Amino acid sequence: MNKHSTQISNVLIIGSGGAGLRAAIEAKQLGMEVTVLGKRQRTDVHTVLAAGGINAAFGNVDKEDSWEQHFADTYIEGYGLSEPEVVELMAKEAPDLVTEIDSWGANFAKLDNGNIDQRFFGAHTYRRTCYSGDYTGRSILFALINKAKSLDIPIHDSQYVSDLLVEDNVCFGAMAFDIQSGERTVYLADSVIIAAGGHTRLWRKSSSRRNENTGDGFYLGLKAGCKLSDMEMVQFHPTGMVIPEDMAGTLVTEAVRGEGGKLLNSDGERFMEKYDKERMELSTRDRVAMANYTEIVEGRGSPNGGVFLDISHKGKDFIIEKLPRMYRQFLDTLMIDISKSPMEVSPTAHYSMGGIVVSPKEHWTGVEGLFAAGEVTAGLHGANRLGGNSLAEILIFGKRAGAAASKRSEEINTHIRSKKIIEKAHENLNSSIKNGSEVARPLQRALRNIMWENGGVVKNEEKLKEGLKKIEDLKEASKNLDVRPDSEGYQDLMLAFDLEASIVSSEATLLSALNRRESRGAHQREDFPEIVKDENVNIRIELDKDQSISLYKESIPSLNKKLEELINKTKEISSFEGMLLE
Ligand code: FUM
Repeated sequence: MNKHSTQISNVLIIGSGGAGLRAAIEAKQLGMEVTVLGKRQRTDVHTVLAAGGINAAFGNVDKEDSWEQHFADTYIEGYGLSEPEVVELMAKEAPDLVTEIDSWGANFAKLDNGNIDQRFFGAHTYRRTCYSGDYTGRSILFALINKAKSLDIPIHDSQYVSDLLVEDNVCFGAMAFDIQSGERTVYLADSVIIAAGGHTRLWRKSSSRRNENTGDGFYLGLKAGCKLSDMEMVQFHPTGMVIPEDMAGTLVTEAVRGEGGKLLNSDGERFMEKYDKERMELSTRDRVAMANYTEIVEGRGSPNGGVFLDISHKGKDFIIEKLPRMYRQFLDTLMIDISKSPMEVSPTAHYSMGGIVVSPKEHWTGVEGLFAAGEVTAGLHGANRLGGNSLAEILIFGKRAGAAASKRSEEINTHIRSKKIIEKAHENLNSSIKNGSEVARPLQRALRNIMWENGGVVKNEEKLKEGLKKIEDLKEASKNLDVRPDSEGYQDLMLAFDLEASIVSSEATLLSALNRRESRGAHQREDFPEIVKDENVNIRIELDKDQSISLYKESIPSLNKKLEELINKTKEISSFEGMLLE
């Protein structure tokens, strides 16, 4: 007989980052019993790394700003692939949510008049990005943790969710094991929210750390019956660290450029003039990443294979006030004082813009009782995310998912508790503990190399097909894993589940990239260098009964009249036009 303990709540949340916590707070405030599960320690989740800021069109610095302009900037720069209603909700609701989190202790930088200060971020028409130095995610996360604590919301760290419990398209909870002790818990709930992040740790150079953003949220969703959208839309942040080797990919915040940082090549040329003369370093992420990539591959890079990012002209006091983490990061790891010397930077996998398909308002996945929020979802960013929109997203749609999950909990009459499904989840765990000849960590490393080499900043058909073939081989090898509890507890088991999720997420990504025969935003194909009108589609992935993935294309949602007029009006005052396909 398989053993587990049981916990029951109205709303179960998988992921203790910003989206998960904001969902939990909403549900709790609506009278729900809430449980939050996280695989990391709550103070060290990925949100803590978010750096430069959160967007809200307050117009505190540039009075002309408006939610309409925020909508237009975001939608236009997403190259038409975003869900317009999601973008509209984000732009309209960001000011309230930013004010709220500031009042909960996020403590954003203020102007002399007490209003929240706003800095420039790439491709925003106005200064719109609210910030706490360059550790905005940390400020937000700690404010959320404190708020959750004041509401007595239980957060269970070190819980790895191996399966969602789903019968007849109804989700009734999750199976999790403790990463230290291996103890299993069946978490039963009326509603479940996946807020487990993206998959950009799967590239060799990544701004995510070990064991985070491994695609586990996507895979949980897929196995439960959700669909994924636009998995090929992976954002490469233009500026990751280049050295030291073990830090390669670590984020160098866009705030450096927002505060006046210049990109230079080995000839000392401020090369963004060639790529976006008007917006220069504050162009969109896709363009700056491509510019850095091009300078490097064409031989004008820095000694260690990057380009230079220089903020030294701003002086030490300014840098320590506005960019304290960057100052410390380069001193601690490289003994470089960025107030005196430039940084070496190059593109790094940063953000999954695709993900689980959800309804715009409720973030419902289409599986009864199952919702999703944050980076694990698709819809807001389209083919290119504007920096600072993701922190807005986690608060707004965390709150919305929490409310919708609570509503469902209030409305349902009957509760499923299928022994058959719970036993199946046990069997999945039992069969994963085995003695084989392969070890998960090196296979995960091999996968990261494949994704970097075959699905990196610029792709082509040959590379993508080769990548898919290599993933097939990895899949075979992963069937023979060695997974056993040891002095490190059940780490091996976590790595085995992560590897399976990572392989499926990678396969979905390369397959989608292969099938998008154009270049659009973050998706760059050297064999199809232009944007193609026929590819005005969202690429969807689902899991078949035999667990293989299949793909189909769906026309992108059109703008309603009101939003179309708004775009046409604001296009005139946008700093960059013509991104929307006519
Ligand atoms: O560069 C940054 O600070 C990243 C911000 C973001 O991805 O939103």
